[in-house]
Amino acid sequence: RYEFRCGTSKGTASIKSIDARQAFGEAPGTDTHISQNEIARCTLELSKPMPLDLFATCRDTGGFLLVDRHTGETLAAGMVRSLQESNIRPQKGEVTLQDRTALMGHRPAVIWFTGLSGAGKSTIANLVEQKLHTLGVHTFALDGDNLRGGLTRDLGFSPEDRVENIRRAGEVARLFVEAGLVVTCAFISPFRMDRTLVRELIGDDVFLEVFVDAPLDTCIARDPKGLYKRALRGEIPSFSGVSSPYEAPMNPDLHLDTTGADASGMADQVITMLRARGVI
Ligand code: ADX
Repeated sequence: RYEFRCGTSKGTASIKSIDARQAFGEAPGTDTHISQNEIARCTLELSKPMPLDLFATCRDTGGFLLVDRHTGETLAAGMVRSLQESNIRPQKGEVTLQDRTALMGHRPAVIWFTGLSGAGKSTIANLVEQKLHTLGVHTFALDGDNLRGGLTRDLGFSPEDRVENIRRAGEVARLFVEAGLVVTCAFISPFRMDRTLVRELIGDDVFLEVFVDAPLDTCIARDPKGLYKRALRGEIPSFSGVSSPYEAPMNPDLHLDTTGADASGMADQVITMLRARGVI
């Protein structure tokens, strides 16, 4: 997914297909890759409706840029050649989120725990949920390991699959927010961009990112599932921190250093954050 800039509007676009290519570079791309200096006709899907025109009709609202959301670098310039409106119209119910929130007695929130495997995400998320439950807060827990047995059963650990994994997790979290719940989410979610996309999907005031931080050496020493041992022997490809990158949050809502500290105390810090943000 790329940032899509057109005139004064900004959105997110993904390339659904590369329909035709004209190569000028020395190493032409493929059906799934466009090389530098290539011109391609592509089908793009925007994440939200945007005001656009055909380039032939109006250059200002018919020309666009695709920008790397990570680096801010412009990757491509484009012209709109045809437009298709989505055939899907969202249905609005009579019972609103405000109605559900009033009934719940607290605001909804997503507490997104990110960190390496073995850092303590699920442990702290679990304690937070227990503590919230005793406080009478309506909760639900989403955990990577659990979702991967069902909703995301078809996904592996390639970068593409992890992007899709987090996209689905974010959409599910959004539904629970619509239901009025406080949702704990424990996912390695190694890519900063994907976490940013979930934040944008859910809303800055509702999405709270908690960095569950432990050095790789500590996680390897803990190795609760014995996965690091196998990953270091080369038996598990693309293992986060070993053979696949983990991008730490730059500005999390809460940073927990789990080296040696007690998990219950850290769960209390999360509860304090929820109080400070007016969720509970
Ligand atoms: S994520 O990277 O896509 O966010 P997710 O949190 O859903 O990962 O799942 C991580 C869990 O999958 C880990 O706790 C671990 O038990 C298991 N797992 C299996 N293979 C891998 C791998 N290659 N890298 C990381 N975790 C893995």
